[in-house]
Amino acid sequence: MDDKKRTLVTCALPYANGPVHIGHLAGVYVPADIYVRYLRMRGREVLYVCGSDEHGVPITIKARQQGCSPQDIVDRYHNIIKESFAGLGINFDIYGRTTSKVHEKNASGFFRKLYDDGKFITRESEQYYDPEAKAFLADRYIVGTCPRCGNEGAYGDQCEKCGSTLSPEELINPRSKLSGATPVKKKTTHWYLPLQDYEQWLREWILEGHKEWRTNVYGQVKSWLDGGLQPRAVTRDLDWGVPVPVEGAEGKVLYVWFDAPIGYISNTQELLPDDWEKWWKSPDTRLIHFIGKDNIVFHCIVFPAMLKAYGDGYILPENVPANEFLNLEGDKISTSRGWAVWAHEYLRDFPGKQDVLRYVLTANAPQTADNDFSWKDFQARNNNELVAVFGNFVNRALVLTHKYFGGKVPACGPLQDVDKELLSEVPALKASMEKNIEEFKFREALRDAMGIARAGNKYISDTEPWKTAKTDMERTATILNICLQVCADLAIAFEPFTPFAAARLRGMLGSSLDWEILGRPQILPAGHTIGAAELLFEKIDDAPIDAQITRLQAIKAEIEAKAKAEEAKHIVPQKEECSFEDFEKMDIRTATVLEAERVPKTDKLLKLTIDTGLDRRVIVSGIAEYYKPEDMVGRQICILANLKPRVIKGIESHGMILMAKQGDGSLRIVTPQEKVNNGSQIG
Ligand code: MF3
Ligand code: ZN
Repeated sequence: MDDKKRTLVTCALPYANGPVHIGHLAGVYVPADIYVRYLRMRGREVLYVCGSDEHGVPITIKARQQGCSPQDIVDRYHNIIKESFAGLGINFDIYGRTTSKVHEKNASGFFRKLYDDGKFITRESEQYYDPEAKAFLADRYIVGTCPRCGNEGAYGDQCEKCGSTLSPEELINPRSKLSGATPVKKKTTHWYLPLQDYEQWLREWILEGHKEWRTNVYGQVKSWLDGGLQPRAVTRDLDWGVPVPVEGAEGKVLYVWFDAPIGYISNTQELLPDDWEKWWKSPDTRLIHFIGKDNIVFHCIVFPAMLKAYGDGYILPENVPANEFLNLEGDKISTSRGWAVWAHEYLRDFPGKQDVLRYVLTANAPQTADNDFSWKDFQARNNNELVAVFGNFVNRALVLTHKYFGGKVPACGPLQDVDKELLSEVPALKASMEKNIEEFKFREALRDAMGIARAGNKYISDTEPWKTAKTDMERTATILNICLQVCADLAIAFEPFTPFAAARLRGMLGSSLDWEILGRPQILPAGHTIGAAELLFEKIDDAPIDAQITRLQAIKAEIEAKAKAEEAKHIVPQKEECSFEDFEKMDIRTATVLEAERVPKTDKLLKLTIDTGLDRRVIVSGIAEYYKPEDMVGRQICILANLKPRVIKGIESHGMILMAKQGDGSLRIVTPQEKVNNGSQIG
């Protein structure tokens, strides 16, 4: 850790268009919280800033879907999100919002200064416009087919299926999300930040100056810079956002990715109206942005370029520890599809188990690659690690101290090798933990902390104080003295990771929180009275885990049914042209099914005897998956009568039944809506 005076930690402002889920927590908020708690324990001055991101198209779309105003949406989710964070012990110094007055003024002023200083360029371009809804279709207001993977629900800015960044012009078959109309092009003028002017400076600052940044972050920045930067529009034609503070810009607002990062500054101002500048403009402040990987370009390229353009002493981030994504039970988490574990629901379903989630999300953090959350792993980590190692060790140490020494820390006698070994492990793990946290390797740091618990647990099992108590009380005293010191170490070491358990443990031990004493000999003096032993963690049995798995299975079934229904709507492109003569060759007629039976030893075939008006004949048809024989009898159908007879499973079939084949391959018989005479020609 460098010796700058203070640290400003920001967490990506979550969109207030849905609750936060475990992916957000694992990627951004839990690691940031570990970092902040650690710095605070070390006596560093820290400011911890977050808030809701309340502008942007997804919020207005949600409002339309729910028939309410965007303000209703952000009010609802702002509160849910805020409470979820508090419930998990993620206590920001401020959790603001980008619809606040302070932010509106600040973001507007920020734009205005760049505008006055000539930092923008304007460009007129043709953009998609919905002629029915009479609105420009920014970003997610436009959907169409992805040119890269064929996903028909790709957005104007991104395809969620293949992850490509898109521009609206690239979409095939664009449709308006507002009215479903096919959009037209219309001229509009916007302000752009000419990012290319900052390219050289960004190269020097990041590619030369910050080789220590995570490889995923550094690599993404490099590939953006190597690809060449383009001017980026910072305004949109929309009616939800911070109005563009320039004459002649009616109906235009700041692009959400322009205003949101300024929200970090606004929220600081809201908390510290007179003192905010030292956090943003002092070279003594280190700025750290915690984000997910989809935010890298905005925090490493766009926002820094905005700050650089603004000048006035704004500092730049010292590091941007972005995480990869967390998947859920093997599938990508998706707010829109509902494939997620929501923080507020977790808190409701697992009351008092905030630490378990924090622990599992850290142990599985998607630090260097995407990672997976599964409920079985959650249960196993709780039961086999938190309960069986950490909790078990603490419990044995405390219970035995009460049993043999009346709840007073016994005196430490001469040390044996096994004692010295344990005692020397703690400072080594502490040093490793410090290094790991300072390098943003929280998973590894947690492993170190758990290493202390493992070492303690092994020590108490090896030294067996319950046995020595029968013969050698002095030795028992030493063993338990050492165990209690390690318990106190754990109460400190786990504070960043599992703060609720750490606080309870400190309560039981009657000890305080000071990082510097971690690993020192005799933290708890002999004779010190400890409190009653409570269980730090409880076993989680199968029932609540199965309930979660069942819930997810139901969601999965729903997602699959929806996907299938969507697929069924898929329209196959028109075939090559044919002549009327080609068509006339086909003898298509109406007929009625007289008898129907399954063709033995097949799943798909029905043998139908039909009245064609011309004759009675047999047709074998592959519809058994969709129709039972009894559904067919008496039904009118259409047939291709003059198809050359074919032998199918030993039965001669004279013709073919016309069927509608849907996008998912499923078949439906075509039946005339009104009853017609058998043998009527169709054409
Ligand atoms: N709302 C954005 C997201 O969830 C993050 C905004 S971060 C900020 O991806 F810097 F713009 F605030
Ligand atoms: Zn795609």
